[in-house]
This record gives sequence, structure tokens and C-alpha cells, in this order.
Amino acid sequence: MTKWTANDLPDLTGRTVVITGAGRGLGLITARELARAGAHVVMGVRDTGKAQRAVTGVPGTFDIRPLDVADLTSVRAFAGSWSGDLHILINNAGVMDIPAERTADGLDLQTTTNHTGPFVLTNLLLEHITDRVVHATSQLHRQGKIDLSDLDWRTRKYDGMRAYEASKLAGVLFSLELQRRLSASGSRVRSVLASPGIARTALAAHSRSNFINRFTFLTNDPERGALSVLYAATQDVPGNSYVGPDGFGGLRGYPAVRRQGKAGLDPVMAARVWEATADLAGAPAR
Ligand SMILES: NC(=O)c1ccc[n+]([C@@H]2O[C@H](COP(=O)([O-])OP(=O)(O)OC[C@H]3O[C@@H](n4cnc5c(N)ncnc54)[C@H](OP(=O)(O)O)[C@@H]3O)[C@@H](O)[C@H]2O)c1
Repeated sequence: MTKWTANDLPDLTGRTVVITGAGRGLGLITARELARAGAHVVMGVRDTGKAQRAVTGVPGTFDIRPLDVADLTSVRAFAGSWSGDLHILINNAGVMDIPAERTADGLDLQTTTNHTGPFVLTNLLLEHITDRVVHATSQLHRQGKIDLSDLDWRTRKYDGMRAYEASKLAGVLFSLELQRRLSASGSRVRSVLASPGIARTALAAHSRSNFINRFTFLTNDPERGALSVLYAATQDVPGNSYVGPDGFGGLRGYPAVRRQGKAGLDPVMAARVWEATADLAGAPAR
């Protein structure tokens, strides 16, 4: 069977894409490939100088803008300055299993980076989005447990890995509820999930888990990991599809439409997570 690669990307001339956390890792590969296919790529990054250096000499159009998805003031400024159509928003920025830390808004840093910040960004940009929102998720959402009364780790003892898993499940449920709302309003905009499997990036640098380095035969190189995101961003998949590697355990391989975990398909929980996140962020619950 022919495997889908970045060479199969359609011509994206005239399309504008925002990629958060695009200065390195999977986000940078995604930015490079979408630009190569002709898209106007807006890179929302914390360190604009580093991102500029990363794309120097790379063919394509890159527009590098400051964005810290864990800082809601930065998120609002980024979205507030947007004008014109945005075809594709890719919520890629993420952290994994980091130590407990509070943001400038007093929120949990990991949960905000992976879920609350992207939730606010997406809602604020939604009126401009014409094609789709892609959420970078993880197979680890399957292990996720969400405590609706403490989404932001205020009363429980913080656990970095549990917080990662919960934040990724929250993102999967966000996609489900977003798609429901979009469809209910008659919008043609899609919400799509992309899991890179396990790709050998710096993501797990803070983690006690040494899985990536110990089991390289089970993992994707970053180029292949990014294919799930590229596929989810450009292929004609149904709303709320879960795109991930076609190989063993969804950990490695080429992109295919797979299925999210059962907990990620619970519409009642999705609506509750939406409301709880909106409360947390003081964001508009559209
Ligand atoms: N690699 C994997 O195996 C894997 C598996 C499942 C899911 N994912 C998901 O894929 C996404 C990308 O991960 P990766 O593997 O490319 O990790 P990575 O190499 O560590 O890159 C993470 C990116 O996120 C950015 N970022 C972190 N916090 C940010 C913030 N507050 N505001 C803006 N940008 C921020 C980083 O920017 P700085 O340079 O400023 O730090 C960096 O560009 C994440 O959402 C991750 O959860 C990855």
C-alpha cells in the first residue's frame, strides 16, 4: 500500500496557516513542509529570534509572531491582532511531564500550555478560521483521567505525567465539543486531532519516562511524526477525526485515520470540560 508522505501535500498557495510552537520539533517540520507546499505560514512562538534562525534559508513564506500559549495576555494579543482569513490553525505547542509551576495568570503551566491556552486561542480566532483546527494530541490521552472539580491541579497533589495525560484527553474532548458546536451552527469548519505516535523530539526532556530513548524501534523519527499533523491539516477527513500512525499501537508508521480512546468520545464529558475550561480561563464559551 502506498504510504502518504509530505510529497503528497496538495498545492497550498493562497492558504494561511498558524502553527503554535513552530520554532523547533514537530511544529518546525510542519511549518517547513506547509511552506514548501505554498502556504503562508504564521509561526506563533515564544522566541521569535530562534524561530527566525530556524527558517533562515528555508524556502517559503514565514511570518513569525510572538505567542506564549501559556500566557493568556499573549494569547489574546495574538488573536486580537489577527485580520483576514485563517484557513488552518494548528495547536501544536506543548510540554510533557514538567514540574509544577503556575503561569502569570495563576494557572497550572502544563495544563494551560497543552489545553487551556489552545482553547482560548481557538475560540478567539474561530471567527477567522475557514477550513479547520488541528489539535496535536497523544496516544497518552487514553490514560487520561479528568477531575472536573480540579482541572487545574489546585487541590490535588500535582503529578507531571498524570497532568500531561489529562491535558491531552481534555484536548481530545475539546475537539469533540468544538466539532459539535461547529456542526450545530452549520459551519463547514472542521476540528481534527493529530497524534504523532512517539516521535524522537525534545518533548520528553523533562520526563522521568525514558521510553523514547530505550525503544527507538517502536518510535517515529520527527519527520514521520509530523506527517500525522500534515495529513490532518490538509486531507479530506471527517470532522473530529483522529489521525495517527498506522503501525503498532499507533506509535509509529505513516498517517491514517484511527480512533481516539473511548473517554475521548464522551459528549457529556466534552461539554463539561468545555464549560470548566471556559470558567478557568474566563474565555468566551461560544
Ligand atoms: N514527540 C512526540 O512523541 C509526541 C507525541 C504525542 C504528542 N506530541 C505533541 O506534539 C506537540 C509538539 O511536540 P514536539 O514533540 O515537537 O515537542 P518539542 O520538540 O519539545 O517542541 C515543543 C514546542 O512547543 C513550544 N512551546 C512549549 N511551550 C510553549 C508556550 N507556552 N508557548 C508557545 N510555544 C510553546 C516549544 O517552544 P520553545 O522553543 O519556546 O520551548 C516547542 O516549539 C506537543 O503538543 C506534544 O504534546 C508529541
